[in-house]
Amino acid sequence: MRLEGRVAIVTGAARGIGLAAAAALAVEGAHVLASDIDEDVLAGAVKVLAAKKLSVIAIKCDVSDAESAVEMADMANRQWGRIDILVNNAAISDDTPIDELTGERWRHVMAVNLDGVLHCTRAALPFLRRSPCASIINIASTQGFRGQPHAMAYATAKGGVVNLTRCMAVDFGPEGIRANAVAPGYIDTRMALQKQDGTHEHQTEWYQDIYVKHGRMPLRRAGKPEDVAGPILFLASDESRYMTGQVLVVDGGFTCTY
Ligand SMILES: NC(=O)c1ccc[n+]([C@@H]2O[C@H](COP(=O)([O-])OP(=O)(O)OC[C@H]3O[C@@H](n4cnc5c(N)ncnc54)[C@H](O)[C@@H]3O)[C@@H](O)[C@H]2O)c1
Repeated sequence: MRLEGRVAIVTGAARGIGLAAAAALAVEGAHVLASDIDEDVLAGAVKVLAAKKLSVIAIKCDVSDAESAVEMADMANRQWGRIDILVNNAAISDDTPIDELTGERWRHVMAVNLDGVLHCTRAALPFLRRSPCASIINIASTQGFRGQPHAMAYATAKGGVVNLTRCMAVDFGPEGIRANAVAPGYIDTRMALQKQDGTHEHQTEWYQDIYVKHGRMPLRRAGKPEDVAGPILFLASDESRYMTGQVLVVDGGFTCTY
């Protein structure tokens, strides 16, 4: 029970990495406010966790809306009187080529994937300041420091998350608030679905060929949401108490190769 009595907020927690993180934090004794823009799926996911006697409740939150983020933080404080852990996980994918990338689309990706991190952090900050063990974990991506075809908006936003994390570490460190990032590689979630036929990236021939057969992925498989939840838990806990401003890469070794 590494997090007994602590209060955590996880955004984008209806599915995927956010849901796995919410479950992992709650199993370690944290009270978790799970939030997502997708209210129905979130309600179903939280029901399953609550049935396992985990202390998890749900709130709808659109992280791109600063007021929505304030309502979320206020609810955690109303419910449990504190906030110790904030996992900024909510994001959308985008693979629009430059010729089709409208200004509106660009701004939407930035609003969710980058502004969202700032909105939720700003909203939780007054409460994190009162915590003796405050930890912010921003979910970035290996795309935050590498280029990929048609990833201008997504990868730029994630690069922003990486450096926003470092700036948070510098600004909040004197107040005892840590800020770190987790950068996942290929993780088997809805975000990694191939658009056309519903198969996942890691099931495609090109993935198997490049990453498994030819060894671009040293661990020879795509990650699971639970593979990312462990590092999030570590950064939330006192085991990482002298770490701040760092990016933990969780990618099966794929950024080690070329
Ligand atoms: N899956 C991967 O391969 C991968 C790789 C690198 C980084 N990531 C990052 O991991 C995080 C989790 O992604 P995932 O793979 O679990 O994806 P996912 O699509 O399964 O889950 C993302 C969740 O965020 C929610 N969301 C979207 N827009 C929102 C908004 N405006 N406000 C609140 N919630 C919103 C969605 O409803 C969804 O439940 C994201 O930050 C993503 O960029 C994922």
